[in-house]
Amino acid sequence: MTDDLDGWRGRAAALAEGLARQGAITDSAWREAVAAVPRHVFVPAFHDDEAGVVRAGDPRWLDAVYSDDTLVTQRKEHDGSAWSTSSTTRPSLMLRMLELLDVSDGMTVLEIGTGTGYNAALLSERLGAENVTSVDIDPELVEAARGRLAGAGYVPRLEARDGALGCPGRAPYDRVIATVAFERVPRAWIGQVRPGGVVLADVRPRGMTWAGALALLTVGADGTAGGPLVSCTWGFMSARPDVSRPGAPEPVHIDATSVRSRTSEVGAGALRTPGLSLLIWQRLPGINAYSEAGGAQITAPDGSWAKASGRVPAHVEHGGPSDVWTRVEEAHAWWVGHGRPGVEDFGLAVGPDGQRLVHRGRGRGMGGLG
Ligand SMILES: C[S@@+](CC[C@H](N)C(=O)[O-])C[C@H]1O[C@@H](n2cnc3c(N)ncnc32)[C@H](O)[C@@H]1O
Repeated sequence: MTDDLDGWRGRAAALAEGLARQGAITDSAWREAVAAVPRHVFVPAFHDDEAGVVRAGDPRWLDAVYSDDTLVTQRKEHDGSAWSTSSTTRPSLMLRMLELLDVSDGMTVLEIGTGTGYNAALLSERLGAENVTSVDIDPELVEAARGRLAGAGYVPRLEARDGALGCPGRAPYDRVIATVAFERVPRAWIGQVRPGGVVLADVRPRGMTWAGALALLTVGADGTAGGPLVSCTWGFMSARPDVSRPGAPEPVHIDATSVRSRTSEVGAGALRTPGLSLLIWQRLPGINAYSEAGGAQITAPDGSWAKASGRVPAHVEHGGPSDVWTRVEEAHAWWVGHGRPGVEDFGLAVGPDGQRLVHRGRGRGMGGLG
């Protein structure tokens, strides 16, 4: 080992201290876990947009590994573009989630999205590896994580499988934590958590990552689950439907030959407004939204599309079967009429019929959405 690597304990302790200082860690047990896990073992290399692949031995490597940044650890080509398909998430988000999970000694946890294995190592350090199960859709990542975890002294149960199916072999769990985003909370997770247990997941659309939040759900005895949405500035990458594809939005064929235009009191900023963006997603399931010069474009699965400028009154161009921007305007009107609720004014209810966004209102009771 080099001198630098011998000094990893100091770096890990400094990372833990920094996370505590910024409020991501309040529980001393997690602080001790961060200080005890050698993060560099789990991130032997990462991709950097400017420097390319940064590996162990590069002077930038160790600083980055013990920083509070997300590091992309796997990239794959798909349809001519490079997609990030695995990463180690910024520690402040990971630790905030681990605290929200509210674990206590002896609890069992299923993690969806093993990635580098770092989060599984933190869980193993905190709860004992025998209580930790972690799955990833990519067998190569699982095998690499298994080796690193064992090297660091942890032997949790790891499986290569689609996390949407959970991991029934070791169910029921006290907790499920997903470190990869899903559009819908899979029913399998709820079935695999004991009543009173918790599912914590980043729930966001693949095509509109401006919407979404962490869902902190408590599982009921009747097989349903519900709870608040927790605002989170940074989200996770979207789940892959299979190992050969990234979690990319579904392409939509649009007919741009007949363009209509009008003005609107709602501009492109609505798509990025926390709380409102959730309502837009709910009214337009399957929406794709992306920035364009001076505004944004949305497409709906039926081929309806609209481009809106950022300034209000906004210039709107639209085409396809319906004027899809009216759905954005309806969501905006509901949002204004209900006092401009933010992400944390909403919750999620998951039942046999699927998932439903619920407005929690002032008194935090669950209400319907207009
Ligand atoms: C942000 S990384 C997880 C980071 C990880 N927890 C860590 O500590 O390094 C997301 C991971 O989810 C995995 N993933 C994507 N789709 C998945 C799916 N459908 N089921 C299970 N894992 C999936 C990816 O392969 C990737 O490794």
